[in-house]
Amino acid sequence: MITVAALDSLPTPVVAIELEAMEANIRAMQEVCTRHGVQLWPHIKTHKMVEIARRQLAAGAAGLTCAKLGEAEAMLPSGVRRIFIAHSLVDLRQAPRLRRLRESLDELVLAVTSPLHAAALERLLAHAGLTLPVLMAVDTGLGREGARTAAGAQETARAIAASPHLRLIGLYTHEGQTYGLPPAERPAFTRDVLARLAAVRDTIDPRLTLWPGCSVTASTMAQLPGVHAVRPGAYVLADLALAETTQVVGREGCALTVVATVVDKPEPDLALIDAGSKVFSSDKTPAGHAGRAADGRDLNVVRCNEEHGYVRGSDVAGVAIGDRIAFIPAHVCTVVNLTDTVAVVAQGRLAATWRVDARGKVT
Ligand SMILES: Cc1ncc(COP(=O)(O)O)c(C=O)c1O
Repeated sequence: MITVAALDSLPTPVVAIELEAMEANIRAMQEVCTRHGVQLWPHIKTHKMVEIARRQLAAGAAGLTCAKLGEAEAMLPSGVRRIFIAHSLVDLRQAPRLRRLRESLDELVLAVTSPLHAAALERLLAHAGLTLPVLMAVDTGLGREGARTAAGAQETARAIAASPHLRLIGLYTHEGQTYGLPPAERPAFTRDVLARLAAVRDTIDPRLTLWPGCSVTASTMAQLPGVHAVRPGAYVLADLALAETTQVVGREGCALTVVATVVDKPEPDLALIDAGSKVFSSDKTPAGHAGRAADGRDLNVVRCNEEHGYVRGSDVAGVAIGDRIAFIPAHVCTVVNLTDTVAVVAQGRLAATWRVDARGKVT
């Protein structure tokens, strides 16, 4: 857990990463993937940092997953050679950037999310003069991109086969609805997602590879037969969604905290801190918390204005103006995207400041 004292020299609010906890998360996920011969393509949308991507690759990640071209471009200094962009690219203006990105890598894999999208991506790649491997999206219950039925997937596969610049290599899904499942239902659910993906695949071509992707299911998926690659993102830093809502990790796995200062106590059971929605983002746990004290005290960020967090809980009586408190955020990915830098704490000391290289890279 972050020692708040390590950050004494810094103004708050400060977003801090405990290096040992993060490295343990990287090692654990890589270890299960390596043991079962499954490729790990971590999604970098969570951390957006070259320093972290470099560590994931050094541990054995086969490639990186990115949401946007800008994220992929920002990760090139990590030395990455293979990138999967898990989004529906359509804009012809992106052709020159795609060409440059492809030239910087050994392999660039793109997503195809519907027959209509296959046509749009075909236009873009023809414009760019590129022929690229693609993964086809299958919706396994989230209700976002991807084929809803086997017939829909077959239609997308036919559209890809009719597109000279697209080469189908596999099927992917993001089973993000698992965040809302009771933990006891998760193992059966995970097997079911994979079975549905495999069943759809078998109606198209049994040689196609399967790429599920979500931190909640990743380590279970990696142990199931037939999975080619997993793409977890949040696992690397973790948050309340993983430590409390889904209980996939313990609190010790939460490597990132927001350290904030108590600036006032307008009521005996209300403390105001100097971090609001511009630090925590507007994401909350199902219990309505933007953050909870990392040290186990009952201190919950129950509401945010832009620059104020409202902290309530049975331990508020014990906090005073000037106290610094480390909070685990509800959702780590959106917190990282709001900060230029993070403070890195190693062995209880401030060890480095890392730039959030892909911060705001949404194009
Ligand atoms: C396409 C895709 N793959 C992988 C992930 C990683 O999910 P998580 O952060 O839950 O590990 C996401 C998350 O939004 C995603 O959208």
